[in-house]
Amino acid sequence: MPLTGRKTLTQYLIEERRRFPEASGDFNALILDVAMACKAIARAVAFGALGDVLGNHAAEAGGAPVNVQGETQKKLDVLSNDYFLRITEWGGHLAGMASEEMEAPYQIPAPHARGKYLLVFDPLDGSSNIDVNVSVGSIFSVLRAPEAEGREVTEADFLQAGTQQVAAGYALYGPTTMLVLTVGNGVAGFTLDPNLGEFMLTHAELTVPADTQEFAINASNSRFWEAPVKRYVDECLAGKTGPRTKDFNMRWIASMVAEAHRILMRGGVFLYPRDSKDPAKPGRLRLLYEANPIGFIMEQAGGRASTGRVPILGVQPEGLHQRIGLVFGSKNEVERIERYHAEPTARKELDNPLFHERSLFRV
Ligand code: AHG
Ligand code: MN
Ligand code: MN
Repeated sequence: MPLTGRKTLTQYLIEERRRFPEASGDFNALILDVAMACKAIARAVAFGALGDVLGNHAAEAGGAPVNVQGETQKKLDVLSNDYFLRITEWGGHLAGMASEEMEAPYQIPAPHARGKYLLVFDPLDGSSNIDVNVSVGSIFSVLRAPEAEGREVTEADFLQAGTQQVAAGYALYGPTTMLVLTVGNGVAGFTLDPNLGEFMLTHAELTVPADTQEFAINASNSRFWEAPVKRYVDECLAGKTGPRTKDFNMRWIASMVAEAHRILMRGGVFLYPRDSKDPAKPGRLRLLYEANPIGFIMEQAGGRASTGRVPILGVQPEGLHQRIGLVFGSKNEVERIERYHAEPTARKELDNPLFHERSLFRV
């Protein structure tokens, strides 16, 4: 297959960097290291049972049975976390890292030099899907480190709103391995050429269609949903004869990274909203390494990402592993869901036909 006309990830990054003549190249080198970690994870995932990488971490390693989230760690969760650490710590670009799989921030060990960025990641998203051979992914976010030469990084250094992200991306280990990246100038998608071992630009300037007829939500939680979410889903389910006057389709992969990718490819809306299932957990997904990077990508692709009430990227984080309600995807649907959340009085009146979607009292 000819290479002609295809840019590599390296070429793409060099061309992006030319917009900033003062840039040192550290950032590009960091992204290439992250891409290398993703390639290593892609290879491990692809070998599956042959690579002895399936199943739970604790089963034979004698390690902790659960991570800081209280979730069972898979062998591949731990391996992927190690790849991220080992492949990015040496380059001198990072002051520290934080991961879903580590309770505290990770300090760059001597003798490696410290750099000016922070890397935050979910090394393997959707890991409950590993053993059933369904797509999983990695999610990452790059922040600037505070200028504090020499000292160790603290949790507070990472508590930056999503608007502060320098770059964000994900790798999807599906039928093909892809890397999707934003450096704040739109969203680009790269497909791994397994022979060359290179990510090739295959999807320049990804955009999310503003409208959709496809939604994704874990309906088994419906009894815990808040009224605006119930209303939104009910209206989708009502289809052509309901207030939306069109039929909707539904998908749930249980790998957010795969859902985000589907939405980037053909539109859609994803909801893992705040619910009342566990009062200690205001949502399922984590703000710093799931919601913020995916939110940045969605907004850069012309979509929208929200808590249901406010834009996700504006939320001031309070903890490294903070959970949050998340809604993202096609702009008009996300805005509609936000509107439903903003109408507390309307919710009580929903049974009154005068207030239905096409009635006199709604615009
Ligand atoms: P992780 O594997 O990193 O813990 O994340 C899994 C997340 C996300 O990818 C997915 O959308 C969600 O959990 C699935 O939740 P349910 O099991 O409730 O469907
Ligand atoms: Mn995850
Ligand atoms: Mn994970």
